Amino acid sequence: MKAKKLNRLREAMAAADLPLQKTATNLVFGEGNPSAKLFFIGEAPGKKEDLSGRPFVGSAGKHLDALFDSIGLARGDVYITSLLKYRPPNNRCPTRPEIEAHTIFLIKQVLIVNPQMIVPLGNFATRFVLGGFSVDKMAGIPGISALHGQAVKMNLARRHFLVFPLYHPAAVLYNFGLKKTLWGDFKSLNNLAFAPM
Ligand code: URA
Repeated sequence: MKAKKLNRLREAMAAADLPLQKTATNLVFGEGNPSAKLFFIGEAPGKKEDLSGRPFVGSAGKHLDALFDSIGLARGDVYITSLLKYRPPNNRCPTRPEIEAHTIFLIKQVLIVNPQMIVPLGNFATRFVLGGFSVDKMAGIPGISALHGQAVKMNLARRHFLVFPLYHPAAVLYNFGLKKTLWGDFKSLNNLAFAPM
């Protein structure tokens, strides 16, 4: 049922006239367990994702896989997507109109999967989610360095979610200190998401 709804949404998105569509090779809609408890949101597809049509298959994805492995999870256990679903040229930062247009589909995706916990990765996804899934409120939200590793309760269309922001796995690859922080935060996420009730 959820898988069917996600497929229909993917088809609607592929058929829509959206920013970045013309310069991208593939739509990178997202993938994973349609009933996942954990829903990860990255920033935008990179080169490898653009070519394959799959999220997080490059070096950031390998880092993410290692993090999943460290808490006994596989990709198929979670749902993974990004704020933008077409690659921005040269991996530049997302613009406001791009975020506005693409996240109409992200919000629908979240409501279909209906996870317990949303995990935004990096500044853009964190500001969008904690701004109430609104581009207008993004500017007033602090950056990831102030928000990572702390759970916040959020509502979307009268559903309740726990939001747990993390550093983007690509952003910390070459910074040993931040990498350590991300791994520590991932442990906290595991305790929070899978602690016995
Ligand atoms: N970074 C992201 O934010 N998303 C991807 O799909 C790949 C890299």
